[in-house]
Amino acid sequence: MTPEPSSYSTRELSSRTWGDFEKLFRKKSKWGGCWCMIFHRLGPLPKSERRRLTKEQRVGRDRRDKKELIDKGSSHGILVYSDEEPVGWCQYGPKWELPRIDSGRIYKELSLDNEGKKLWRITCFWVDRKYRGRGAATAALKAALNSIKKKGGGLVEAYPATHKGFPADWFGNLSMFKKEGFEVVAPFGKSNVLVRQTIMP
Ligand SMILES: CC(C)(COP(=O)(O)OP(=O)(O)OC[C@H]1O[C@@H](n2cnc3c(N)ncnc32)[C@H](O)[C@@H]1OP(=O)(O)O)[C@@H](O)C(=O)NCCC(=O)NCCS
Repeated sequence: MTPEPSSYSTRELSSRTWGDFEKLFRKKSKWGGCWCMIFHRLGPLPKSERRRLTKEQRVGRDRRDKKELIDKGSSHGILVYSDEEPVGWCQYGPKWELPRIDSGRIYKELSLDNEGKKLWRITCFWVDRKYRGRGAATAALKAALNSIKKKGGGLVEAYPATHKGFPADWFGNLSMFKKEGFEVVAPFGKSNVLVRQTIMP
């Protein structure tokens, strides 16, 4: 039976929890091996490299690169557990760790002022299908904000979808960010918005 949201626990992504991260991401069969590397890179791989490597090789490379970043302490995220089973994930990190957003046209056009504060991003969620709609993503978001607070806080931004079922729901849903005190700053594409909140240490 699927548990109630209150029964979830969370842990920080680290070399110690790598095995759980791997287990969770191997469940994401539809995504054919996404290892949450997209936002760590400035842009897509050059065409020549994409042609040279098979899909399997690209996925293997993403997995290795992710592990390397985690071991260096340069990749952050929250794993959500139901009992000891990893069932959900949320990626967060300082701006420099997730630079892909900066290279997007919409983001550049917004020319946002960071008010001299350290900028954090929350870029990706994924919840095991069996556990969706039961608060796992919400638990991940709360834990990510708590981690950011412990790390000194700052300006936190995210890019959630405005309605359930909209594309790009890996950014999470607006209602869950609003419940945590985020405010909408600007539209971010057709179905998403950019939200921000200052988290004090
Ligand atoms: C979007 C997603 C993370 C939500 O996780 P969840 O654990 O079901 O979310 P929660 O139960 O904590 O609910 C949070 C809010 O999101 C809403 N929500 C649930 N599913 C959603 C969806 N598919 N799209 C948008 N919002 C959704 C809920 O209604 C809730 O809002 P409410 O409090 O106003 O009712 C989950 O559906 C998912 O993993 N989708 C696939 C994302 C993906 O493909 N990621 C991989 C990219 S490589």
